[in-house]
Amino acid sequence: MDKIIISPSILSADFANLQRDIAKIEQAGADWVHVDVMDGHFVPNITIGVPVVRAIRKVTVLPLDVHLMIENPLDYLPQFIDAGADIITVHYEACSELLDDIIDYARARGIKIGVSIKPNTPAIVLKEWLEKVDLVLIMTVEPGFGGQRFIEDAAYKIEYIKNNGPKNLILQVDGGINDETAKICKHLGANSLVAGNYIYKSTNIAEAIEALRTN
Ligand code: DX5
Ligand code: ZN
Repeated sequence: MDKIIISPSILSADFANLQRDIAKIEQAGADWVHVDVMDGHFVPNITIGVPVVRAIRKVTVLPLDVHLMIENPLDYLPQFIDAGADIITVHYEACSELLDDIIDYARARGIKIGVSIKPNTPAIVLKEWLEKVDLVLIMTVEPGFGGQRFIEDAAYKIEYIKNNGPKNLILQVDGGINDETAKICKHLGANSLVAGNYIYKSTNIAEAIEALRTN
């Protein structure tokens, strides 16, 4: 089996100590850093923006996995790429008509591009894009906040993506992931797990990351 890509969400880190908290996950074996960008419109919360991405780019060698929970993501792609994003995931619900332009732009700039769906959006809407993107992100909570409860029904969409997408597609899940829910997702075919609270609230981050990977 392929290695599971673990992408800890810094939404659960201490924002006054981001450098320290990113170093913690880097030393503990994380693969990527998951950065949750929220605009107060697409979701009812405001978090991190371009300047923070630029700042954390300087303090880690890990790929920055930037999850854009924002309206009009195409307008902001250039800035996030200039700031150092390696993987950018946009929401289907925010930009379905512009998804082809977004993919073209990401290709031209040489970054990985992902598309995400919220728990109530059916997986079939992504059918025509599965061959074109690098990553599909299935949200297993309503986007907007960390620390919510895993929605198991949403996780079953992983199977559809797995069965209809190319072999090398990165199939990521995000929301309420812990050692138990990770098992369900991996069984369904996920090969990348985002986790905020489970990792940052654990007493041993290396063990938490390892548990997500191997349980
Ligand atoms: C939710 C974010 C998630 C969140 C995950 O809108 O996209 O990345 O930080 O947090 P946990 O793992 O605590 O559910
Ligand atoms: Zn996220």
